[in-house]
Amino acid sequence: MPLRIVHFNDPILRQKGRNVTVFDSELANLAQEMVATMHEAEGIGLAAQQIGRALQLCVVDLLPMKRNFTWVLDGVKTPLELIMPMTLVNPAVVVLPSEKEPYEEGCLSFPEIRGDVIRPNKIAVRFQDLHGIAHTLECDGIFARCIQHEVDHLNGTLFIDRMEKKVRLGLELAIRDLAQRTRGNAASSP
Ligand code: CO
Repeated sequence: MPLRIVHFNDPILRQKGRNVTVFDSELANLAQEMVATMHEAEGIGLAAQQIGRALQLCVVDLLPMKRNFTWVLDGVKTPLELIMPMTLVNPAVVVLPSEKEPYEEGCLSFPEIRGDVIRPNKIAVRFQDLHGIAHTLECDGIFARCIQHEVDHLNGTLFIDRMEKKVRLGLELAIRDLAQRTRGNAASSP
């Protein structure tokens, strides 16, 4: 059964995730449930905060996207089918020299709210897999964007924080309305 996805402005979304130190079956199960939840919601990324856990853990799956991006995992252009869905534990992003580009992003914690976010096009991310083994991924385009969006979540940063003022302003009423509905749901749940 998919996990419940937390909506804005639940306070958990603002919590920085704790580092993961234990790589056991519980962690693997959680990641698996997050992947199932992401797929069910038709998203390409999901961070632990979005299912109510403040951990340095996120999952991504770029397979549904048009493949106009590049990636190199541990120095090898591994077929995407072999690395997706991908779990990133304790990820750290470094921006590589590249242009910054706008792109209309959405977020599973902000149903029906979309807006342009300007981000660097190319990154390197160091992370651990579910066995605790360290990896380095270099990627660009939507892959790099998706990882930046998810790693932001792990640090309590949301895509609305990264929007230009005029973009954010255009969404302000919808954002406030969502926050109000989220508060209402929290109050009525047992
Ligand atoms: Co998001």
